[in-house]
Amino acid sequence: MSNSVVNIKRIGLLTSGGDSPGMNAAVRAVVRTAAHKNVEVYGIKHGYFGLINDEFITMDTHSVSNIIQRGGTILKSARSEEFRTKEGRKKAAENLKKYEIDALITIGGDGTFAGANIISEEHGINVIGIPATIDNDIVGTDETIGYDSALNTALDAIDKIRDTADAHERMFLVEVMGRDAGFIALETSIAGGAELALLPEELTHIEEVKKQLKDMLKEQRRSSLIVVAEGDEIGGAIKLADKIKGDFKQYDMRVCILGHIQRGGSPSARDRVLASRLGANAVKVLLEGHSQIVVGIVNNALKITPLRVVVSKKKDLDYSLIELAKLLR
Ligand code: F6P
Repeated sequence: MSNSVVNIKRIGLLTSGGDSPGMNAAVRAVVRTAAHKNVEVYGIKHGYFGLINDEFITMDTHSVSNIIQRGGTILKSARSEEFRTKEGRKKAAENLKKYEIDALITIGGDGTFAGANIISEEHGINVIGIPATIDNDIVGTDETIGYDSALNTALDAIDKIRDTADAHERMFLVEVMGRDAGFIALETSIAGGAELALLPEELTHIEEVKKQLKDMLKEQRRSSLIVVAEGDEIGGAIKLADKIKGDFKQYDMRVCILGHIQRGGSPSARDRVLASRLGANAVKVLLEGHSQIVVGIVNNALKITPLRVVVSKKKDLDYSLIELAKLLR
């Protein structure tokens, strides 16, 4: 956790990887905090792709008006293959030097931070990470920007599916996002009262799943809803349906994949406040001399964590919540 950065006059700002609701609120907080401190901001469009391909734009307080309530990201996002190469990162570092940028603030998830870490190691670039991903799989913060909004979007869909499942007395397998993390699946399963949740963090024994479902049917449950994390080892809801439908022929089974709907929409109040706090703090700690860190909030207190720690650790689910989900099913 370097704190040798002293004289910051100009920063670069990008959003990268999967967008998440609240990224715009974080962009706004960074730009406005920087303006208060007389620090210039260059926005870089399309994440690391734009960093390599010279998509730099100047930003000021007015360029971030009327965006706090908008999903997506005004800076656009991308996944850049070229940035995975040494040559790509060299071009990116040259552009940062060309624009005389003293530090780069990156808003995104684990892939974004892996990129930030490597460019800082190879080219001595000062970087700060702001965690924004619907997956919530970043250590050093209780929640990532966008997680709360995605959770509520998924829950709203699950509640609606529950109505039609109940009307037709059907079994629904609902797949939620999260890549290889089960945060969305676990919390939507608790909040949506799901009969079962399949999580990447737990081994899935198909015979056990069938037994649990059969036991439920014996208990006279007429409809049921199973939340399946896309990263569960079974390989998602369609594969699960293929594996179990033979045993439940009497039951009208449907699969629903929520997909990218979970990434869109207006950020929740909680995400807007989180993004505002993290964006402002990213600039503050940078000006205090910190870099190669990720800002976060733990137990409602602002926190910084070394970037190399964040990229090397996997965030655990709260196992007491898994127990709770099982108890209440
Ligand atoms: O990391 C965010 C996320 O939405 C994951 O939950 C999902 O697995 C992935 O991105 C989808 O990525 P893409 O939009 O590139 O298909």
